[in-house]
Amino acid sequence: MASITASYPWTTAPLIVGAPMRLISGPSLAYEISAAGGIGFLAAGTDVSTLSESLSTFKSLLYTSPIGGTSSDVLPVGVGFILWGADLDLATKALSELLEPPAAVWLFAPSSSEELGSWANGIRSATNNKTKIWVQVSCVADAIDAIKVAEPDVFVIQGADAGGHGRYASAGLISLVPELIDTVREYYGNLKEGDTSSLPPKFIAAGGIADERGVNAVLALGADGAALGTRFLAAEEAVIRKGYQDAVLKAADGGNSTVRTDVYDKLRGTIGWPEGYGGRGVINLSYRDAVKGLAFEENEKLYKVAEGAGDKGWEEGNARMTTYAGTAVGLVKKVAKAGDIVKELRGEAAVQRI
Ligand SMILES: Cc1cc2nc3c(=O)[nH]c(=O)nc-3n(C[C@H](O)[C@H](O)[C@H](O)COP(=O)(O)O)c2cc1C
Repeated sequence: MASITASYPWTTAPLIVGAPMRLISGPSLAYEISAAGGIGFLAAGTDVSTLSESLSTFKSLLYTSPIGGTSSDVLPVGVGFILWGADLDLATKALSELLEPPAAVWLFAPSSSEELGSWANGIRSATNNKTKIWVQVSCVADAIDAIKVAEPDVFVIQGADAGGHGRYASAGLISLVPELIDTVREYYGNLKEGDTSSLPPKFIAAGGIADERGVNAVLALGADGAALGTRFLAAEEAVIRKGYQDAVLKAADGGNSTVRTDVYDKLRGTIGWPEGYGGRGVINLSYRDAVKGLAFEENEKLYKVAEGAGDKGWEEGNARMTTYAGTAVGLVKKVAKAGDIVKELRGEAAVQRI
């Protein structure tokens, strides 16, 4: 079977992927990850209105410093969509206008299987099948549903440790990756010839990976590569407030210091997630007060004050601002260039972590 890097010819094994993080993964971060031989994803998230502009900024970076090994068919970048909140018509319109569409899209959190199917079909037809369909799932059942409606080219297997949104009911990568891969392979093995047009998919693991040891671990479990969000929060190119980034650098012992919850979504008004999803972030006063039973309106007022206080909203001891990050926060110790992080993750030791 061809390795995953064969489908993305500018990439180097082991494949390192920059997860699309809403509002944070912009063109510079995505470009630097791809330029270092990984795949950077732009985060469209729930708002597709700025996608064309982000892609054109990415293209100008590419024009200024071309990435070796790219084809003229696709751009060496992916785009992530949060399906329950994003507009499929706008997305397909933006993608169909491109001579070179992105190499991949990363579809996450559909409100139904049908919605996932519509996105996969819509994007395949808008891009003449040039753009590969990646689907992020956090349990085996969702993977089987996804095969039936979307025939993903790549599964992003999201484990319980992942920062940002994911399913409350999910396992850690050490059990989830092998079980999900076995189940999907068995499913494809049981299909009669002619039942499906696509090859069995590839698998990328995400959630709690922050250094070369984590990358090697998921490769040993059978994954074809690793996707990271939390580690790239400490990339120079991340679009992130200094207060947020500092809070990530300071946090340690992520099983204790982070939690998956809907408290932050409610406080910042990012509501509408399908049932069963919560966002993992660093525990701060907003969460503690909610657990203590402070009335939502009071907590919201305090949150708004923190929002108005800029970086002070993340100040140690007084922090209230949402700080989405995964359990690997304790392994993220310094800010570095995204390209150096990619090289270090591959074992090329470009960054000294401590
Ligand atoms: C700050 C932040 C924002 C995120 N935003 C998105 C998003 O917009 N779309 C998405 O599919 N996943 C999002 N995720 C989840 C990632 O896709 C990925 O599953 C996760 O970052 C992997 O775990 P890690 O953070 O431990 O590396 C986000 C994660 C973080 C930390």
